[in-house]
Amino acid sequence: MKEELEKLAAEAKHKIEEADNLSQLEQIRIDYLGRKGCLNLFFKKLGQLPPEDRALMGQLINQSKEELSQGLTRKKETIANLLQAEELEQERIDITLPPPMPASGKRHPITRTINDIVHIFSRFGFQIAEGPEVELEYYNFDALNIPKDHPSRDMHDTFYTRPGILLRTHTSPIQIRVMERGQPPFRIIAPGRAYRRDATDASHSSVFHQIEGFLVDEETTFSDLKGILNAFVKEFFGKQSVLRFRPSFFPFTEPSAEIDISCVICNGKGCSVCSQTGWLEILGAGMIDPEVFRMVKIDSERYLGFAFGMGIERVAMLKYGINDIRLFYENDLRFLEQF
Ligand code: DAH
Repeated sequence: MKEELEKLAAEAKHKIEEADNLSQLEQIRIDYLGRKGCLNLFFKKLGQLPPEDRALMGQLINQSKEELSQGLTRKKETIANLLQAEELEQERIDITLPPPMPASGKRHPITRTINDIVHIFSRFGFQIAEGPEVELEYYNFDALNIPKDHPSRDMHDTFYTRPGILLRTHTSPIQIRVMERGQPPFRIIAPGRAYRRDATDASHSSVFHQIEGFLVDEETTFSDLKGILNAFVKEFFGKQSVLRFRPSFFPFTEPSAEIDISCVICNGKGCSVCSQTGWLEILGAGMIDPEVFRMVKIDSERYLGFAFGMGIERVAMLKYGINDIRLFYENDLRFLEQF
C-alpha cells in the first residue's frame, strides 16, 4: 500500500509540474486531494492493514496530502506571477515616446503678410489706421478726385448697397477719413479688405485686401517716397530686389507712378511669372494731388504728401510663390499649415 501511495504521489507531482494553467491545477486538486479524491481512498483501505501499521500509514497519507497541497500552492503562485508579468508587459507604457503633438493654430498667410508689412512701416514711424468697409461714395470716389464719369465708378466694378453707399473698392478712402479728422504731419499705414465686382479666377477675387500708406508733412518729396518704398521692398522681399518706377495716372496723385520690383522668381532675367519682362508690378503711388488736400482742408501750399497702395494677396503670392489667389480663401489645412 505504501508503494501504491508513493506512486500516486509521484504521479500527482509530475502532473503539477506539467500543468500550465490554473484550471488544470484545480482539476489535479480535485482528483487527488478532493473529498472523493484518490488520496482519501487510502484512508478507507486502512482497515485492511494490520492494526499496528495503520497509524504509520495514516501519517504517510497525511504527509503526501500536505506535500501535494504545498506543491499546488507554489505552482499556483508561479502561474499567477507569470500571468501578471504577461499582463504588465502588454500594458507597458513607454514613457520615453514623444507625445502626439496637439495641432497648433497659425496665422493665416494674409494676416501674416499684413502684420509683416505693418511691422516694417511701423519701424519707419508709420501708425495704423482703419476705415469702414461699407463706405460712402464720397470717401471712396469724390474726395479722392475720382470724377463721376471715371470707369471705376461704373456699376460693373463696384458693389453698391444703395445709392451713395458702397463696399469700398480700395483702401484709399482711409486717407480722406484720417486727414479730415486730424492735422499734419501724418504717417499712416492702413490695411483692410476691399471689394470689386470681378469674376473670380486664379488672380482675381471680388473680396481682397489692400494696404494703403501715406505721409504728409512740410517738404515731403518724391524721393522720400522712393526711399521709403525702396527700404520697404528690400526688407520685405530681400536685399536683391530692385525697384522700377513707371509714370502712370491716378486721380488722387500727381505725379503718379506704378512701381515694379525685379521678378522674385527669375531675379530680372525673364520667366513665365513676369511674362519675360523681368519685372512685376506691385504698387501704385504718387504725390497727393492738391485737389485731395483741398477736399480735406489741408493747405497744399504748406504741406506735401505721398501716398501708395498695394494688393496684399498679390505681394503674398509673389513672396511665397503661390499661383492661385483662391487658395487664400478655401481654408484647406494642407495649404494653411505651410505658413
Ligand atoms: N487705390 C489704388 C487702387 O486700388 C491704389 C493706389 C494707387 C493707392 C496710387 C494710392 C496711390 O494711394 O497713390 O488701385
